[in-house]
Parts: sequence; C-alpha cells; structure tokens
Amino acid sequence: MYKSYEEAYRRSLEDREGFWSIAGGAIQWEKKWDKVLDDSRAPFYQWFAGGRMNTCYNALDFHVEKGRGDQAAIIYDSPVTGTIRKITYKELLDEVSRFAGVLKSLGVDKGDRVIIYMPMIPEAAISMLACARIGAIHSLVFGGFAPNELAVRIDDAKPKVILSASCGIEPKGPIPYKPLLDRAIDLSKHKPEKCVIFQRPQVKAALVPGRDLDWTEALGGVSPAPCVTVEATDPLYILYTSGTTGIPKGVVRDNGGHAVALKWSMQYIYGVEPGDVYWAASDVGWVVGHSYIIYAPLLYGCTTIMYEGKPVGTPDPGAFWRVISEHKVKVLFTAPTAFRAIKKEDPTGSFVKKYDISSLKYLFLAGERLDPDTYHWASDLLAIPVVDHWWQTETGWAIAANCMGIEELPIKAGSPTKPAPGYDVRIIDEGAKEVADGREGVIGIRLPLPPGCLPTLWQKDSAFVSSYLSDYPGYYATGDGGYKDEDGYIYIMGRVDDIINVAGHRLSTGGMEEVVARHPDVAECAVIGVEDKLKGQVPVGFVVLKAGALKSRDDVQKEVVAMVRNDIGALACLKDVTVVARLPKTRSGKILRATMRKLADGMEFKVPSTIEDPVVLEEIGAALKEIGYPR
Ligand code: COA
Ligand code: AMP
Repeated sequence: MYKSYEEAYRRSLEDREGFWSIAGGAIQWEKKWDKVLDDSRAPFYQWFAGGRMNTCYNALDFHVEKGRGDQAAIIYDSPVTGTIRKITYKELLDEVSRFAGVLKSLGVDKGDRVIIYMPMIPEAAISMLACARIGAIHSLVFGGFAPNELAVRIDDAKPKVILSASCGIEPKGPIPYKPLLDRAIDLSKHKPEKCVIFQRPQVKAALVPGRDLDWTEALGGVSPAPCVTVEATDPLYILYTSGTTGIPKGVVRDNGGHAVALKWSMQYIYGVEPGDVYWAASDVGWVVGHSYIIYAPLLYGCTTIMYEGKPVGTPDPGAFWRVISEHKVKVLFTAPTAFRAIKKEDPTGSFVKKYDISSLKYLFLAGERLDPDTYHWASDLLAIPVVDHWWQTETGWAIAANCMGIEELPIKAGSPTKPAPGYDVRIIDEGAKEVADGREGVIGIRLPLPPGCLPTLWQKDSAFVSSYLSDYPGYYATGDGGYKDEDGYIYIMGRVDDIINVAGHRLSTGGMEEVVARHPDVAECAVIGVEDKLKGQVPVGFVVLKAGALKSRDDVQKEVVAMVRNDIGALACLKDVTVVARLPKTRSGKILRATMRKLADGMEFKVPSTIEDPVVLEEIGAALKEIGYPR
C-alpha cells in the first residue's frame, strides 16, 4: 500500500527496481528474475530479465489451485444473439487447455505466431489464452478491418495458424467473416498452414478442404496441453496499430512485465479486488480489450464481461445499465464516444432509473479525449467518480490516471489527472527541452518506460527507434501534444501526427490517403480528421482530379468512399469526400493539413506565412461549406 499518490509516484521513479520488484511478487514465477530492469542494451530495456513464467498459468491455473475455480471468469453477454453464458475459472481452464492441445496438434510451438480474427465471443479469449499457454504469440485483428488490412498483418506476422469464426454480429445483422478471411489469404504472400473456424449458428462458413478445420471437430480426441514456461521477456502478443502510413506497427508485448504491470494496475488504478466484476466495454481486437477484457481481470482473479453489443440500439440506450445491474459490475471502462451515443439517444438519462446500478463504483474512460460536456453528463447522472485516463496501444496500460486504489485526487474536467507511477511524463519542445507549466508541447516519457510497455516493434528494432525514440533523445515520443498545469495535471490536446480517433478506433489519415491516391482519376489528395459530436473525429477527404479524368466528380467521390471501406474497413467511416481544384500548400510543396483541419472545425487560425497561394484556402473553405462543415 502507498500513503499517497505523491509517495507512490516518487518511489516508482526514484527506485524503479525496488518499486517493480515488489509488484513482481504478485506474479507466480517458475524462476525469479535475475535483474528487475536490464538496461545493458538500452534503449531496448528488458524488465524481469532472467525470470521464467507463464501468463496463462497466472491467469487461470493459479486461481483454480487457490480455490477460485467455481467463480465466473467470463460472463459472455450478447444482446445481439440473446445469450448470457457464465464460464467459471475451472471451465475456462479446461477449454483453454483443450484448445491449446489443438494448437499443439497442428504443430504450433513456442514462438510461432497465430492470428486471431474473431468477434466478441468466448472463443476469442480461449484462443488468446491457449496461445499464451503454449508460448505461441497471438496477434488479434479487429473484425471491422477489411481483407487488405488483414493480409498486411498476415504478411508481417507470418502465422502458422489462423483462428476465426464464421461471422461477427452487428446490430444490422451477421457479418460473414470467412469470405473476408479467404480473401485476405488470397491477397497475402504468406499462407497459413491451417485455419480453425468456429461455426456460429447464424452463418455457416464453407471450409477449404485440407486447410480449414472446424473448431468443434478439431477438439475431438486431442489431449489438453500443459503450460510451457517462457522467458519473462518472450513476446506474448503482437498488436498492430495505425502509424502515420498505411503500414501498421506491430507493437510487441512481453510476458513478465505485462503480467506484473496489469495486475498492479487492477489494484492501484482501478481500485478493484479479486472476485469483483470488471467490465471493459471495448473489443478484444483493440488494446483495451487485450489488457482489460482479458489479461488484467483474469490475472487479478476478477470476473470479466465479454459484451457483444453496442451502447445503443442493442436494444436501447439502457443496454449498459442493464449489464451493470444484471452482473453487479463494479468498474465500467469504455470510450467517451459510447457515452456520447447514450447521451444523444437518452439526454435525460431516463433509462438509468429502470435499473439498480448501485454496484458501480467507478467509470473509467479512455481511447480519446473526454470532452468536459460528456464528463459532466456522466458524472451528474451516475454520481460516482468518472475517471479519464490516457494511454495507447504502445503502453498497454494507463500513462496518466487518477489512481483510485492509491488516492482519489480531485478531478479536473478535461484532464486525465497525473502520470501513473512508472511514467516520467514531460512536456517538451522541438529541441527536447521541457517547457513551462501551462505551455503546450509534445508529450514525451523519459526512458525507460515502465513494465508492460512495448519493448520493440515486431522484428523491426530500427523502426522502433526511428518511430518513437529518435526525435527527442532520451524520451519515448507519445505522438500526443498537450500541457501540464501548475498542479501537475496533464491535458491531452490531440495527436501531433496523422493519426485520428474515430469512435475510439485509431486510424491513420496517411493510410487513407494511400488508398484514395490509388484511384486512377485522382491526381492528389488529402484526408484530415474533423471534429464530430458523436465519434470524436471523422475523416474528410479532398481530391484533385487528373486533367482529362474519365469519371464524373460524383462517381469519383463515391468510388473513393467505397475504396476506403473496401481496403481499410467500414470502421474508417470516410463518408465525406469533396473534389477541389487545388490543395493548399507551402511554397516547398507541403500540404497544409493542420490549417485545413482548423478551417473544417471552424476554429480561428493564422494563414501560414509559408503558404504558396492564400486563395486556395478560400476555395477549400467553400468546398467544406458545400458538404456542411464546420458543423
Ligand atoms: N465487425 C464488422 N464490422 C464492424 C465491426 C466489427 N467488429 N465494428 C464496427 N463495424 C462496422 C459497423 O457495422 C459500421 O458499418 P456501417 O458503416 O456499414 O454501418 C462501421 O463499422 C462503423 O461502426 P461503429 O464505429 O460501431 O459506428 P456506429 O455508428 O454503428 O456506432 C457507436 C457508433 C459510438 C455506438 C460505436 O462506435 C461504439 O460503440 N463505439 C465505442 C467504441 C469503443 O468501445 N472503442 C473502444 C476503444 S477503447
Ligand atoms: P490507441 O492506441 O488506439 O489506444 O490510441 C491512443 C491514442 O488515443 C492516444 O495517443 C491519444 O491520442 C488518444 N487517447 C487515448 N486516451 C486518451 C485520453 N484519455 N485523452 C485524450 N486522448 C486519448
């Protein structure tokens, strides 16, 4: 226990090894580490070097051995299929061990990669834990991504096996996954040896003879597999996330540091106890899903909820309150966009009154900026702490938070409070010098990062250094800009690169531009992220047609929208594309995307002195007006 936030934070930076070695004591090790922090290959830091353990053992076997076997490990609540299924720790251990046996029988060994392309069903959790059990490295791909995106990930991770399901279910109906998977495998250079497909009753997938196996049939006659001990520093998973180009970054997560940090965070950030019901309403395909639907709650002995539904429409804006009351949820973690969606449909919060949600102690929000309006609405409605916390796929857990298990600090709307223990957060300028309180800069974290954060990018050590560590020597560059106030509270003002957040989904406008530029009639294009009341941000595209373009403006607009949907996925939500005569540029030819963004958002801006022709901005303003911006 810590006396105060200040004490915990100070200790975590003044005596990193002491701090994390105490936290490491909560994990079961087959062999204890030789060194808490190995900095001999800095900037490639290694936590708990020499330690040997197994993440699945810590998440399942350990709890069953300690008498938690009959407690629900997972509650699968699926309003889109009308199903509620409780799986105890004992049952989950049995299912995971048997499926690990299937993977073994398919030749999957320690270090092999397995891609998981699954909706929010328990089999996704079973797949992840089965990989962890045998030391295989899983890589989940969010179901909303199109085949092309899946193919890029297949080629990078080179999986021996792919695990998938016949369909996902959206409120509008089932989305068959298998044709998307087949198309992705057609597109990829690397071919998996086998695919195991979980057949859901809503859609029956056609299996490719010799390559595809039915999940249930594959389990027949297979012996359960025991845990394989791995190095603390061995990879547990790879999770691809948007970078500034169309090539996603393969964020690597290790086993030991990850387990230590996540277990620590459950107690000290989220303020829960083993046995509590914890609900992260996200998707297993995102980092929030990895960390707080699967690993952290199970490592800590909580009951986790896997919710296959939306905040609204499944069936109404009372969906979250129903789940909380039915399963006695203590902590809900979701994205602000989910609350904006509920607020839009039920502005007075009348649906809350239909349910007893007295079990709920904290609401945690992350994934995008929590706007003060949404904060106040949620806080007034629920009358519990509404905790904004800031983190990224790369870090795997919160960089800044109000740590409910240490000390509840006063909440300031618009701020995720202060750096979490372990993170030395500084606001710096272009020369990596710290700026004064209240002044905006880029947000850097002084190295080393704490346990649980990415040790590197999958098989791309040099890209890890060039993407995150080179611009500001001694720092990890978060890609976010912001400032600190005089009390040390951090304010996140948004990305300083081409990444946008659409409904809590991280996407690259650079990646979208690469797709748009492939249209044969497009000479040039720009995609920017524009403020949206519901989704936080949405992309808006601008295209300049080639002289003698064959298609009409309307057709090009429609085709470009369809291309982005086909190549990236429906979640990209590029709906507004406008044809313009020119793009605003500096004299050296750089497109002035930041200025375009301000125009679209109706913000004040100074015309950059480097602009080639200021008239172009007027043309862009007129084009934006035509499609309804600023909103
Ligand atoms: N598989 C296939 N398609 C998917 C999908 C999945 N897993 N998830 C989303 N999509 C599709 C949707 O069907 C939709 O397609 P459409 O354009 O044909 O309608 C598109 O992607 C956009 O979906 P979505 O982002 O869900 O938008 P929406 O307007 O249907 O719903 C919200 C808006 C706010 C309710 C929804 O975005 C939401 O619940 N957001 C919370 C996100 C979240 O929890 N993020 C967690 C990160 S911490
Ligand atoms: P992802 O990797 O998908 O989790 O997205 C990470 C990015 O989301 C961060 O770099 C931020 O830009 C944004 N983000 C996450 N949480 C917050 C938050 N609490 N406040 C503001 N932005 C956030």
